[in-house]
Formats: sequence, C-alpha cells, structure tokens
Amino acid sequence: MDIILGAGFFAWIGAVLYPIGKYLVPPKVAEMSVNSVEAGGISEFPPSSSKIVRFGRRPVIVFRQQNGDFHALSATCTHLDCTVQYKSDTEQIWCACHNGLYDIEGKNISGPPPKPLMQYQVVLQNDKVIVTREEMT
Ligand code: FES
Repeated sequence: MDIILGAGFFAWIGAVLYPIGKYLVPPKVAEMSVNSVEAGGISEFPPSSSKIVRFGRRPVIVFRQQNGDFHALSATCTHLDCTVQYKSDTEQIWCACHNGLYDIEGKNISGPPPKPLMQYQVVLQNDKVIVTREEMT
C-alpha cells in the first residue's frame, strides 16, 4: 500500500512540476539569418548624419562622414551593451554610459570598451543605402 501511495505521490509531483518547468524554460527559436538590410535612401543621410537600423535583432549605426563616406558599425557598446552614437563634430563613435570612444572604423580608442565594434559593409545601390553582414574586421 505504501508503495502505491509513494508512486502516486511522485506521479503527482511530476505532473505539477513538468508544466512549470516547460513554462520557465524558453523554447529554442532559431534567430532568423539576415545578411543585408536597407537603411534608407541616400538623401536621408546628409553629411555628418547617422541613423540606427535593425539588422535582424541587432542595432547597427549607419553614419555618413562630413566628406560623404558611409560607414556601418554594431551599435552595441562592447563594454556593457549600451547603444553608441555618432559624434559628427569629432567624427567618433561615443558611448554615453561610461564615456567610451571608438574611431570611425569601430576601434576602441578610450574609455572602458574592451574591444572594437563589429564593422558592416555599406553598399550604395539604386539611391539606397544597403548594409551587409560582410564583416570587414
Ligand atoms: S557601456 Fe559603453 S562605455 Fe560602458
């Protein structure tokens, strides 16, 4: 009799805990592979301007220098994941969280960021600014 009660108790515990465990563990969802995104029209990027676009689930900062050159870098600071911004006056990438600085190629040049920002390629095609995953670093 004790064995039957014990087995019933463990079956009951399993019936309660299994759905809770399934609820707490998120399902594995494959990240959609994105190889390029359109950041907008070229006219939307006057010299010394920038824009943050979504590249899949990641933010990318697309900016145009005063000389007209385009660049695209990961917009996630390599220190503690704050979103960086383009400083057109000094032509640097700045993280306001802890005053981290990167150059326009994404190289960390001062402050706490431990490594460079990932570079993306920018392709100008049919008056559109296309950012591609082709890593340049
Ligand atoms: S999160 Fe960017 S410098 Fe700390």
